[in-house]
Amino acid sequence: MKTDARVIPIASALDAAPPTGDELALPLSGDLLDRRQRRVRDLRISVTDRCNFRCVYCMPKSVFDQNYTFLPRKQLLSFEEIVRIASVFADLGVEKIRITGGEPLLRRHIENLIEQLAKLPVELTLTTNGSLLAKKARALKDAGLDRVTVSLDGIDDAVFKRMNDVDYPVGEVLDGIAAAAAVGLAPVKINCVVKRGSNDDQILPLACHFRHSGHILRFIEVMDVGTSNGWRMDEVLPSADVIARINEEFPLEAVDANYAGEVAGRWRYRDGGGEIGVISSVTQAFCSSCTRIRLSTEGQLYTCLFAQGGHDLRATLRKGGGNEALRRAIAAVWRGRDDRYSEIRTAATALPAGKIEMSYIGG
Ligand code: GTP
Ligand code: 5AD
Ligand code: SF4
Ligand code: SF4
Repeated sequence: MKTDARVIPIASALDAAPPTGDELALPLSGDLLDRRQRRVRDLRISVTDRCNFRCVYCMPKSVFDQNYTFLPRKQLLSFEEIVRIASVFADLGVEKIRITGGEPLLRRHIENLIEQLAKLPVELTLTTNGSLLAKKARALKDAGLDRVTVSLDGIDDAVFKRMNDVDYPVGEVLDGIAAAAAVGLAPVKINCVVKRGSNDDQILPLACHFRHSGHILRFIEVMDVGTSNGWRMDEVLPSADVIARINEEFPLEAVDANYAGEVAGRWRYRDGGGEIGVISSVTQAFCSSCTRIRLSTEGQLYTCLFAQGGHDLRATLRKGGGNEALRRAIAAVWRGRDDRYSEIRTAATALPAGKIEMSYIGG
């Protein structure tokens, strides 16, 4: 079995960060802070480690081939378990839940999960590659999903196919985006991961395409997530260059963040053509305001996208003890959190060392 992520010894939540008597005495409310005084605000839930694309920076075919062993179904958290965990997080202060993968729309009956999660007092969003969106947009909206983010690494069909590496035509994803907007899963955000020399020639054509569309196009610096994407610093095109390129053609001005700790830097076209964003996770790390926690498909909790190990919430859940046991386990993990990987990244630390794959932990 190919097990970069799964063979890492995973301590149980309480074992990994044993709470002291003092910690347990603290109220388990909205005041939950990590070691760097950050709150827990965003929960990202991965519902499958599978994907029908093989994006070169995420699931390169050379690694994710027919010999790759994905998680067996029985190891996945059930929808009921996910909802229980999510409701505890909502009690602890989480305001936004994002469903991710792999490709989340591949998980069977995903709309049933959405329907349950939509009852929580949170904003509910989903990141998808868009391939099944035209078919599923209506059911997702009816189930209570608020909005979607669609990955799109090029507008030219040949470039898009080269990036997804499964010959998937761009037109079908564009149809998915249109369907999402038509049913009101808006604003639709479009994520383009930029890899210098591979798809940076798509920056202007993408900007042109989505100006005046009402959708928010964002460019993401390619990151060294996992160990299999062969990341190199010289393939990162700094967001500042992306903005400069667009600004030359279509003048831009900066826009204030919607909320403290927003991942994307916001810009708008001076001529009223709408908003774009840049996510500078390499050149301008945003760890100091990082309020995100990630739940893997099999119920491991990760406090950083670049974590080398998780906390086994599934074990806590299945051991019994009810929501109170979950609350305590989650609070202990968050209070012990000290991550700031992107702030201290160097070319050397980015070298393979047991990091979790993006397709497993969720973008
Ligand atoms: P919204 O504002 O709700 O749309 O969410 P968002 O801006 O967080 O966007 P999204 O969740 O789509 O994240 C966009 C991309 O930013 C992800 O696919 C990652 O590439 C990157 N990203 C998101 N969160 C983190 C994080 O915690 N650390 C790092 N290093 N990158 C992140
Ligand atoms: N660097 C930056 N973003 C990535 N994503 C996946 N792999 C990477 C990477 N190496 C993001 C893409 C995709 C989302 C699921 O995760 O934005 O849209
Ligand atoms: Fe699939 Fe998204 Fe990874 Fe591409 S980036 S391989 S669409 S999970
Ligand atoms: Fe948060 Fe880790 Fe990303 Fe920094 S690198 S922003 S701590 S997830």
